[in-house]
Amino acid sequence: MKHDVVEKNVGLMIILTIVALSFGTLVELVPLLFAKETHEPIAGLKPLPALELEGRDIYIREGCNTCHSQMIRPLRAETERYGHYSVAGESVYNHPFLWGSKRTGPDLARVGKRYSDDWQRAHLYNPRDVVPESNMPAFPWLFENEIDPDLTGLKMSALRKVGVPYTDEDISGAGAAVTGKKEIDALVAYLQQLGTLLQSRR
Ligand code: HEC
Repeated sequence: MKHDVVEKNVGLMIILTIVALSFGTLVELVPLLFAKETHEPIAGLKPLPALELEGRDIYIREGCNTCHSQMIRPLRAETERYGHYSVAGESVYNHPFLWGSKRTGPDLARVGKRYSDDWQRAHLYNPRDVVPESNMPAFPWLFENEIDPDLTGLKMSALRKVGVPYTDEDISGAGAAVTGKKEIDALVAYLQQLGTLLQSRR
């Protein structure tokens, strides 16, 4: 009988629905806010050094993340192919996260050290030179553009404001670390460290 009251009163029904959903959400969410492994860095995790940080920005600018995820799911098919599944503690210094789910190309969460620097450079210059059937775009301009050393320290200061533990030395030395470097150097440096802290398959 009491249920009749709810079913015949849309306003009450809406309010009770919201209460029920909020309760469900809280039950899922609140434990995560207190679970260490969701927001504590894994052992050995350091903020990206200057060159790799610039590489990450190029990765975002060129839209690499629109074709490549960085999120290995804890499923056998994934861990056999890519290595250890991704854990939250690997990404705590990433702003924004680049996890994604769109996989036109393979997941890159643990691509670091899987290929040589030379392979990465050749592949980015023209993917078909090393993978004949590839439909990945070529990025030849990365070999010409230089990094602007005036911006790197500012990027680090901005990241420090949101909790990435860059030191004053990191920030003051950032410009010198990228001076004269080409964008390709930065991007390859970024790729080569991806996921290397946790054991990978190869
Ligand atoms: C339009 C989609 C697309 C975009 C954009 C793209 N890729 Fe790819 N990528 C692919 C495909 C498809 C493959 C698989 C074929 C190959 O190896 O070339 C691939 C392969 C790769 C591989 C080899 C991965 C492995 O495990 O064998 C790397 C590394 C890579 N891409 C890096 C990049 C980077 C860095 C960028 C941005 C500069 C980028 N990709 C942009 C589609 C894309």
